[in-house]
Amino acid sequence: MSLDSAVAFARENGDRFVEELKELLRIPSISTAPERAGDVRRAAEFVAEGLRKAGLDQVQLIDTSTATRTGHPLVYAEWFGAGPAAKTVLCYGHYDVQPPEPLDEWLSPPFEPQERKGNLYARGAVDDKGQMWMHVKALEAALAGGGKLPVNVRVIVEGEEEVGGEGIAAFVREHGDRLKADAALVSDTELFAPGLPTLCVGLRGMIYTELEARGAATDLHSGMYGGAAPNPFIALAQVVAQLKPEDGRIAIPGFYADLQEPTSDELDAWRSLPFDEEHYRKTEVGSTELTGEEMFSVLERTWSRPTMDVHGMPGGFIGAGAKTVIPAKAVAKISFRLVPDMKPEKIFELYKNFVESIAPKGIVLEARLIHSGEPIVVSTDNDYIRAAAAAMREVFGKETVYVRGGGSIPIVGDFVRELGIPTVMMGFGLPDDNLHAPNEKFHLANFHSGIESILRFFDHVGKL
Ligand code: BES
Ligand code: MN
Ligand code: MN
Repeated sequence: MSLDSAVAFARENGDRFVEELKELLRIPSISTAPERAGDVRRAAEFVAEGLRKAGLDQVQLIDTSTATRTGHPLVYAEWFGAGPAAKTVLCYGHYDVQPPEPLDEWLSPPFEPQERKGNLYARGAVDDKGQMWMHVKALEAALAGGGKLPVNVRVIVEGEEEVGGEGIAAFVREHGDRLKADAALVSDTELFAPGLPTLCVGLRGMIYTELEARGAATDLHSGMYGGAAPNPFIALAQVVAQLKPEDGRIAIPGFYADLQEPTSDELDAWRSLPFDEEHYRKTEVGSTELTGEEMFSVLERTWSRPTMDVHGMPGGFIGAGAKTVIPAKAVAKISFRLVPDMKPEKIFELYKNFVESIAPKGIVLEARLIHSGEPIVVSTDNDYIRAAAAAMREVFGKETVYVRGGGSIPIVGDFVRELGIPTVMMGFGLPDDNLHAPNEKFHLANFHSGIESILRFFDHVGKL
């Protein structure tokens, strides 16, 4: 590849790349919604077609369904024109998205992409369709007009990241050889601040659970039975409050046993990042105060401390108006974010035992595990991270910083543990991109800088 001609091609065709991305964003590939399975598949086919047009070989959808589950397809492609002596990079992304609700908060509909002030608004714009599309377009730019890449490439794009990534995890376990590479490149994280080149070197893991509380045998009139019958919502409120008291420290015995503190070098580096807590509270969170473990900084609280959140409490009466009922059962969707070296299975057991031991009178509690993923920290001391840091420095004109992310990308842990390859997390989102929220956006300048950074990364890896 001539780097210059690939970069020039990407610049000349940048507007077309964005128009194509808009087409992909119009497909509501919501992986958690069973009724959207057809759309999820359409998105997979769109990505496959994009890879074919970019000039990749062996482009195929890989079914992840098994006897016991219906999965969403993986998209695979490869290009081995650099020859057996060259390095191989595994490019990863996901084409599935989170549900768009609440719809009335969106300024333009979630699946009708709209450009406003240099940003592209749509569900999936940055997480992760837009960032995955940067990979596809960087490959197209490199291979355009008979061009060559300085590295071999495999591409794997999944459609279940937002629901735990079970299908790709099984594929990596069973067919790891089909993804054999020297390093993985993941673009599904963010810059620490606008214009600041950033590599993410750690992710939190998680367990996502449902906690069901059952009281009476059937719904009851709350006037006739109120005062004598157990209320499962009140029980869940009591259990939740005990799990996470106001000081933010999780009360489950043994919860913190395997936690590894960040190194003092890492903590020093975080302290020198441009972070203003008050600005963060106002512009990103928008609450009257921040909460959590006061003795830890906000970056520590979100990157290197575990936590717990409640996502919703389905059940009971949620219609308009008033209904006087004591529901027979209630559910809380509860997740825990984990940090190295906490083990998801072990944490689930501790949690299950603890909630059962504090079940309020007359209430039967059942904890169910929906999905889980391991926490990960990657070493910065390898040539691929150095290649990525150099690529970003060249594009942004500043020294690259290293951060962790509070979110999770379950498969990254498997790349490191099962495939044994270094993983480079080079993402181009911004802190105010509204991931998983209304008005998700991608700053289009970052889409284009992302493509150029990826091209330069390939170029540097080609020289290793
Ligand atoms: N791209 C995010 C994860 C992320 C965001 C990492 C920002 C670092 C910085 C990913 O798509 C995501 O949202 N993952 C889910 C995973 C879960 C459903 C298993 C998450 O973190 O909630
Ligand atoms: Mn993502
Ligand atoms: Mn996400």
